[in-house]
Amino acid sequence: MKFRQIALGVMMAATMGLSSLVSATEFTQDEKLWLGMKIYERAAGRGCGTCHDVKPFPNLTESVKKLSKEEFIKVVKEGRAGTIMTPMAPQIMNIGLVEKACMTEDQALDALHSYLLALANGEIQGGKVKKPKSLKDKMKGCK
Ligand code: HEC
Repeated sequence: MKFRQIALGVMMAATMGLSSLVSATEFTQDEKLWLGMKIYERAAGRGCGTCHDVKPFPNLTESVKKLSKEEFIKVVKEGRAGTIMTPMAPQIMNIGLVEKACMTEDQALDALHSYLLALANGEIQGGKVKKPKSLKDKMKGCK
């Protein structure tokens, strides 16, 4: 009995150790841009655009050029004290798609930043990214 308990403990520890070693799903640039667009559209219920597509709030295609990536991500994580810009990372992690794609917070924020930067640089034709076919299988297999 005692041995079985120890064996079980060792097995559990090994499994936990392994699961933290399994690397996160990797995304291609096209997948990132599409996921980033969806995050922009869906964060905080109706998307970042609820505020940021409206004047006088900062247009984020200008912000990505003005701020470094680190500065941009810091604001998204921590918000701007004393303004209605509250920390948005938790809202982003709540998006169903982000969960289904098994994205880490770093990946989600990176995708969002990549999308806005590509948009700002005129790299997205018509401003809309098409959903990459590759994403479906990736999302199925990620859990
Ligand atoms: C409820 C409205 C609201 C929502 C929703 C919102 N923001 Fe903001 N955000 C603001 C306001 C207002 C500011 C300007 C704050 C200030 O005065 O510094 C701001 C500032 C920022 C800045 C700094 C911009 C700059 O040029 O200095 C970034 C980056 C940013 N928001 C990202 C986001 C992202 C990404 C989302 C969606 C995940 C988001 N925000 C959702 C209201 C909002």
